Amino acid sequence: MTKPEILVARAVFPEVIARLEEHFVVESNQRDDSWTQEQFIQKLQGKQGAFTTGGDRIDAVVLAACPDLKICANMAVGYNNFDVDAMTQAGVIATNAPDVLTETTADFGFALLMATARRMTESEHYLRAGKWSKWSFDMFAGSDIHGSTLGILGMGRIGQGIARRGAHGFGMKVIYHNRSRLSAELETDCKATYVGKEELLKTADHVMLVLPYSPASHHTIGAAELSLMKPTATLVNIARGGIVDDAALASALAAGRIAAAGLDVFEGEPKVHPDLLTIPNVVLTPHIASATIPTRLAMANLAADNLIAVLTGKKALTPLN
Ligand code: DGY
Repeated sequence: MTKPEILVARAVFPEVIARLEEHFVVESNQRDDSWTQEQFIQKLQGKQGAFTTGGDRIDAVVLAACPDLKICANMAVGYNNFDVDAMTQAGVIATNAPDVLTETTADFGFALLMATARRMTESEHYLRAGKWSKWSFDMFAGSDIHGSTLGILGMGRIGQGIARRGAHGFGMKVIYHNRSRLSAELETDCKATYVGKEELLKTADHVMLVLPYSPASHHTIGAAELSLMKPTATLVNIARGGIVDDAALASALAAGRIAAAGLDVFEGEPKVHPDLLTIPNVVLTPHIASATIPTRLAMANLAADNLIAVLTGKKALTPLN
């Protein structure tokens, strides 16, 4: 029997490529070249499966040009690079990689919150630049994590992981806002209280964004929302670029409208709004919230498992359609 052909659009773990090669004829991008959409389409033509990451767009144009495609497996929990409706119409299965990254990503959200509130990178840059000549009582004074109020926008699995860390580990009061309210059992487990978005923005000392990106969540945080936040507040975005209006955030930070921000994701990444690069009270990381080797390996293996299942006539493990 001839093996199905698949495209692995980005470089991944060699052991995952080797697993895929047991089942498929694999064309992979182990040099991690950046492809134009045209090049991507050209490589995808004639393939039954695609192993994608968050930067690889699958939309009606790609689908129309690649009629052999049966499944696209995203090595990411977020899937705003997929037009799922167009995929469903074209009879292409879409899968993502949930669960395996939840705790790692929640760890990182918390790390970014702490680095931001306690001014870790700003003070480290100062020290490395040789500027530290003496200790002073208010040098790089930040804001407390313990005992403060953590507001979480988006209370899926990762949001819940962050809530547990805040409530159980740091004695924070946790409030959250989500499209749908959690069950009473989950609220008790996370020690989290449901509030409206405006109340959350007005009362939280630290606002953590963990909601998925969609046209409806575009600029969930813009100038109006930032103006509701406390001047001492911290904003952390580990969700997706585009959920925050980065230009409005840069202005708010520069004006001291809020105290600080921690950003792992950016509008139009890997480009970063130039003003964010020069403002001291912002901690910037290059979309690494799920980046530990065991977690990235688990994400890649889950994407591979989905491809293997679907192209051998079984059900996808984590289908989106
Ligand atoms: C995800 O899994 O969605 C992360 O943001 C990595 O892309």
